Amino acid sequence: MTLLVTGTAGFIGSCVLRQLIAETQETIISIDALTYAGNPLSFGDAAKSPRHHFEHADIRDEPRMQAIFERYQPRAILHLAAESHVDRSIHGPAEFVSTNVIGTLTLLQVALDYWRKLPEPRKSAFRFQHISTDEVFGSLSPSDPAFEETTAYAPNSPYSASKAGSDHLVRAWHHTYGLPTLMTNCSNNYGPYHFPEKLIPLMILNALDGKPLPVYGDGLNVRDWLYVEDHARALRLVLERGTPGETYNVGGAAERANIEVVNTLCSILDELHPQGAPHERLITYVKDRPGHDRRYAINFSKLESELGWRPQESFETGLRKTVRWYLDNPDWVASVRSGDYRHWLEKNYEKRDA
Ligand code: NAD
Ligand code: DAU
Repeated sequence: MTLLVTGTAGFIGSCVLRQLIAETQETIISIDALTYAGNPLSFGDAAKSPRHHFEHADIRDEPRMQAIFERYQPRAILHLAAESHVDRSIHGPAEFVSTNVIGTLTLLQVALDYWRKLPEPRKSAFRFQHISTDEVFGSLSPSDPAFEETTAYAPNSPYSASKAGSDHLVRAWHHTYGLPTLMTNCSNNYGPYHFPEKLIPLMILNALDGKPLPVYGDGLNVRDWLYVEDHARALRLVLERGTPGETYNVGGAAERANIEVVNTLCSILDELHPQGAPHERLITYVKDRPGHDRRYAINFSKLESELGWRPQESFETGLRKTVRWYLDNPDWVASVRSGDYRHWLEKNYEKRDA
């Protein structure tokens, strides 16, 4: 039994990889282009497993993808590789369309050719699982009901537009060609191995360095937070028991305004790293993100009622574990703070108005 997983050197893909190696007997072929966001150190213990085979490859490289499918004959693919950061998509949208839309198209075509030639029963059992985001549904007002699987798409950023484009391709490849696809749309993840361009790891590392904690706008934008291990469990459940052609929302039932998240992080840091206390003194309001979505919230009742999934980690315990992990893993932190990372901080923050 062999699974292909793309984006395994990134935040969520590496978690899926580590879980699959630790909790199953499957062979995992992991594919990653090792962009600025990909780090082989995130493989953790999976790096040493004889059941993990890493292919350093770009999902847009069609001959390479064909060769990987031919060689390993996977039973399914979990597709997580993407450009994932909204702020970067505002500075440079083309790479997002290229990887998220063209990359997904490439994988769909290669998977379709492969799937068509599979003998039964392997053909019926094959799955193409596409990992997407709640951002494709747009922005909610405070009183709107949470996003459902049937909510109309209304992407607002270049990132979410590119993810929406890839979602539509996946839908069409099922509807037109019959490819057995699965799709999940998940809310904001947090946890270990999260690249420090995103809110939670950026705040933790800035606070440890005594640097400003840059809160966009009024700090009242709301996100629904899910611990990454819970997301990985949901993806595995959908892979095994989801119905082809269906989409499933995944969420944390943990809506928080950004300023609440930052205040909670500061309190945890005051306790675990008292040298810098009170960390709240570092909070700095900065110019808002253009087109900043106000609120995301996910209704995951379909996943709960059909497949029995619920998040296991509470936001407070998950956040504490996350801070602890960053304190305990300075080597990983040092390895991702490359020249590219410093360049990004300068581009996104240093020339920003207060
Ligand atoms: P990430 O940026 O941490 O990791 C993405 C990985 O994809 C990196 O390892 C990168 O090297 C790799 N990659 C990028 N372009 C590639 C290419 N052309 N070919 C091969 N590999 C390439 O992202 P993440 O936060 O782990 O997100 C993973 C997936 O989950 C994405 O599809 C994202 O849209 C989706 N998602 C993320 C969240 C979240 O909160 N982070 C929530 C919902 C959905
Ligand atoms: O909702 C799922 C999405 O969550 C994923 O699809 C994306 O890949 C992932 O990056 C994430 O997108 P967000 O834009 O919500 O995440 P980010 O961590 O960039 O920002 C979270 C909130 O914090 C958002 O309202 C912007 C704000 N923010 C972010 C940064 C980096 C700040 O106030 N200051 C910051 O420095």
